[in-house]
Amino acid sequence: MPHPDLDSSGRALDTPAAPAPALIDRLGRPLHDLRISVTDRCNFRCRYCMPREVFGADFAFLPRSEILTFEEITRLARLFAARGVKKLRLTGGEPTLRAELPRLVEMLRAIPGVDMAMTTNGTLLKSLAAPLARAGLDRVTVSLDSLNDAVFRDMNDMDFPVALVLEGIEAAAAVGLGPVKINAVTRRGVNDHTLIDLARHFRGTPHILRFIEFMDVGSTNGWKLDEVLPAADLVRQIDAVFPLEPLDAHYTGEVAQRYRYRDGAGEIGFITSVTQPFCGTCTRARLSAEGSLYTCLFAAEAGADLRAAVRSGATDEALGALIDATWHAREDRYSELRSASTAGLRRVEMSYIGG
Ligand code: GTP
Ligand code: 5AD
Ligand code: SF4
Ligand code: SF4
Repeated sequence: MPHPDLDSSGRALDTPAAPAPALIDRLGRPLHDLRISVTDRCNFRCRYCMPREVFGADFAFLPRSEILTFEEITRLARLFAARGVKKLRLTGGEPTLRAELPRLVEMLRAIPGVDMAMTTNGTLLKSLAAPLARAGLDRVTVSLDSLNDAVFRDMNDMDFPVALVLEGIEAAAAVGLGPVKINAVTRRGVNDHTLIDLARHFRGTPHILRFIEFMDVGSTNGWKLDEVLPAADLVRQIDAVFPLEPLDAHYTGEVAQRYRYRDGAGEIGFITSVTQPFCGTCTRARLSAEGSLYTCLFAAEAGADLRAAVRSGATDEALGALIDATWHAREDRYSELRSASTAGLRRVEMSYIGG
């Protein structure tokens, strides 16, 4: 008969399992976030991400058989959670295009102790927000680069109207997926004249607007340094109209620099990936839709092919060892090294790895 105070492995029942030792990379950074791309497809052709000339009608998107199944994703996410991951973020392409996404959310929800978010273009949120919330999604981030309908239609290059994205944001907030974060990529000469309006629109709401500097991700978006609007300039512009004061970060490694409006109208953030890189505290791993593990948004190639390992029958121990070895070997800090010498390097596409 088992001892009443011991579990089946002989551990005292009132003694919590010892936490796994933190997984630390070569630069001393722990693994904290896993971004999971669930599809490489998107219904937008944002010019800074999936330019139509490259991703037009006959681009070779991944066939279904090459994409991780929900069971494979959940198994891997569990292994990451056992290694310290506390935040899962579903991305794409556009994650809401993946069939039966709420079923995946429900499966991931069963992993204890993780926060679960999603980054979306918001186009399908009107119908999907409620089922996603019911399935256990905690919150959403919606990409929205301008409130000027003509500018927005041109940036998404699908002639998609801004009003429908705004409806998607409200649908998400109404079912408890807020406060919604709004990501706006800033591009000088493209939408910089419309950014104050964007700030004005979300001031006084619970939603949190974050401006992102246009990044040289991938190798198809024609990035030029002179199109980057430095966040410091934008902070000054907004502060002149709506006075701001800086806030402390919520946690070490937070991507956005947070500010509050001095008149109490809420919060706004700035993501300074180009002018003030934050590699020193980067705790994010990225799983592509076909199961490759990337340790940097700017990587030329994957750190490990987890799909191959899963499909060849690897045990949890073997998969875990592969994840551990990849993170231990990590020394990425692309944004800190960005220079003329990195300009010609091959890089994974943002739409493939999910931002
Ligand atoms: P929460 O704090 O959970 O809301 O997440 P977050 O602030 O990390 O937000 P999110 O993951 O949506 O990041 C916002 C954007 O910042 C991304 O879409 C990218 O454009 C950019 N970003 C996020 N992580 C990185 C990173 O590791 N490197 C670089 N260079 N940019 C990043
Ligand atoms: N630079 C900055 N942000 C980008 N995103 C996509 N491409 C770029 C880029 N080149 C943003 C999207 C979305 C998030 C996933 O990344 O707008 O909010
Ligand atoms: Fe699609 Fe997002 Fe890329 Fe735009 S930025 S093309 S919405 S994946
Ligand atoms: Fe992390 Fe790479 Fe971005 Fe630096 S450039 S913050 S290492 S993803």
